[in-house]
Amino acid sequence: MEDFKDKIVIVTGAGNGIGKGISEQFARRGAQVVLATYLDSEGLQVEKEFIDKGLKAKYIQTDVRSEESISNMVDETFNTFKRIDVLINNAGVTIFKPMVDVSSEDWDLVIDTDLKGVFFCSKYVAKKMIANENSGSIISISSNHAYRTLPDTEMYAAAKGAVISMSRSMAHSLGRYGIRVNTVSPGFTDTHHYQKWLMAKEDPAQVEKDVYALHATGTISTPEDIANLVCFLASDQARNITASDHLIDAGLTARLYHSDKF
Ligand SMILES: NC(=O)c1ccc[n+]([C@@H]2O[C@H](COP(=O)([O-])OP(=O)(O)OC[C@H]3O[C@@H](n4cnc5c(N)ncnc54)[C@H](O)[C@@H]3O)[C@@H](O)[C@H]2O)c1
Repeated sequence: MEDFKDKIVIVTGAGNGIGKGISEQFARRGAQVVLATYLDSEGLQVEKEFIDKGLKAKYIQTDVRSEESISNMVDETFNTFKRIDVLINNAGVTIFKPMVDVSSEDWDLVIDTDLKGVFFCSKYVAKKMIANENSGSIISISSNHAYRTLPDTEMYAAAKGAVISMSRSMAHSLGRYGIRVNTVSPGFTDTHHYQKWLMAKEDPAQVEKDVYALHATGTISTPEDIANLVCFLASDQARNITASDHLIDAGLTARLYHSDKF
C-alpha cells in the first residue's frame, strides 16, 4: 500500500520506540520521512537502517525543547522537499518520582519536551502548511495518563493532559486552512522503556503477567499498533476526524480495578 507516496512526514523522537515504529510505517507506505530526533547515535542509525531497506528517510538533528532547533529543522525540511504534509509530535521524556523530590529542572525537562515542544513544532509546521496552501495533519502522542493516572506522575500527567486540550484548540485554529489536529493516547507499549521498567521489578515475569491480565485483549500494544492508528488518522480516510483524542490501551483505562486480586 503506497497511500503516503511522495508525502512529506516529520516524526519527532524518531530514534527509538514508538517514533521509530511510526516512521517506518509511513515510509513503508511511500512517504519521505524526516527523522527529527535528538541523539545523533539514534538518528543516524535509524536513517541508515531505513535507507538500507529501500525506504526514504532523512535524519535532521532536533531538540524539541529549543524553538531555534525546531525552526531550523522545519526550514531544512521545507527547503529540501518543498512541502510538509504530516507532523507527528512523538518526542517525549518520562520522569516518575515522588512530588516532594521533584526539582524545577525535572519540571522544565518534562514540560519543555512533552508540551512546549509539541506547541512549537506544530506552530512552525502549520506556518509552512498555511503559506504553501497545502492541507495537512498534525498528530501528537499523548498518553492514557491524561485520563487516569498514578502516584508520582504529576509532571507527565500534566503535560499529556495539556497536549490533548491544546490540540483541540489548534484543531479549531487550523481547520480553516485544511489542517486537521488529533492526539493518540497509548497505554503500555512494548518499547525499551517498558522493558527497562519491567526489568527493574523484583519478579518481571509475574509483573508482566499481571499487566497483561489488565488488558481486555490479554496483551499490550506494540509500536506497530500505535503506528497503524496514527497512519489511519493522517490518511484521507480520516478526512473529517479532527480535535479528537484516540485512546489505544486495550481497555486498560476502562477497567475499574484488578477484580481477580480482591
Ligand atoms: N512506551 C509507552 O508505553 C508509552 C505509553 C504512552 C505514551 N507514550 C509516549 O509515546 C512517545 C514515545 O515514547 P517511547 O516509549 O517510544 O519513548 P523512547 O524513549 O523509546 O523514545 C523517545 C525518543 O524521543 C527522543 N527525544 C527525547 N527528548 C528529545 C528532544 N528534546 N528532542 C527530540 N527528540 C527527543 C529520544 O532520543 C528517543 O528517540 C512519548 O511521547 C511517550 O510519552 C509512550
